[in-house]
Amino acid sequence: MPASVLPLRLGLGLLRVGQPALPGPAGDALRRASRLRLTPAEASAEAAIDALRRELRRSPATVEVVDYGAGTRGDKPPVRRVAEVYRRAATGPAWGRFLFGLARGLRPRRVLELGTNLGVGAAHLAAALALNEAEGGPAGRLVTLEGAPALAALAAGHLERLGHRVGDDGRVRIGVGPFAETLPEVAAPEAWDLVFVDGHHQADAALGYLDTIRPHLAGGALVVLDDVEPGRPVRRAYRALRDRGPSFYAGKYGLLVHAAPGDLGGATTAAARVSALLPTSAGAA
Ligand SMILES: C[S@@+](CC[C@H](N)C(=O)[O-])C[C@H]1O[C@@H](n2cnc3c(N)ncnc32)[C@H](O)[C@@H]1O
Repeated sequence: MPASVLPLRLGLGLLRVGQPALPGPAGDALRRASRLRLTPAEASAEAAIDALRRELRRSPATVEVVDYGAGTRGDKPPVRRVAEVYRRAATGPAWGRFLFGLARGLRPRRVLELGTNLGVGAAHLAAALALNEAEGGPAGRLVTLEGAPALAALAAGHLERLGHRVGDDGRVRIGVGPFAETLPEVAAPEAWDLVFVDGHHQADAALGYLDTIRPHLAGGALVVLDDVEPGRPVRRAYRALRDRGPSFYAGKYGLLVHAAPGDLGGATTAAARVSALLPTSAGAA
């Protein structure tokens, strides 16, 4: 196990001692993700992502970004070095492996990510979906949303190079545009099993996006909110939601399980069940 994931493994171990276990498939997925151990096939998939990371870290290229406020901190020029975008915004290796473990454990059919950026988090999620399918599991699909067209184009190239077809019929589909426009378009026809909210890091924005997604979550779905550490704006959104259903504070991520009462161990693929515990931001539950 690389030294870079050891602190996270220890931290997650301590956090698991102090909190109730998540129920059902989400709980299994969290246990698996917290081990951060890989089979040889998983290690090979993760090694390919590590190679992409090394390339991005020293890339001399630039990319045009779109400033959506939070999550793109400071008064920055719209053209930035890819290496800097990677350093500031991409999911790090240990958390990437955690996301990978969640998607391996949950075996989701439908995964949604808000905030593609360079496609690094998407690469971990897509790699897990590919392995799940190769082992006879569901042919999982990832939809990832990004507001900066140039970042979306770069991400598409990275994911294709890692062996994931990108497009309407591919393992990954990238929706380009502000979340406020793309999310309502993609959310409705699906029953999402795993949602990773990693863009527009403001509490009200996160609550609004979750309001849009909530009716389209599968029973037992897992929602991962990024940036919920004390002092971070999204923590307020996590605190508003965490007592409404099973939840787990994983340090950087807040995990929320969407399940109908009495059905906490239910299958993840059923269409959205009626008695959602994940409330609207207006406080209904
Ligand atoms: C922290 S990065 C995402 C990192 C990525 N999920 C990963 O795991 O590597 C956030 C991304 O969300 C995008 N973003 C932020 N607010 C947005 C909005 N309101 N609409 C669309 N995209 C947005 C930014 O352009 C940025 O690329």
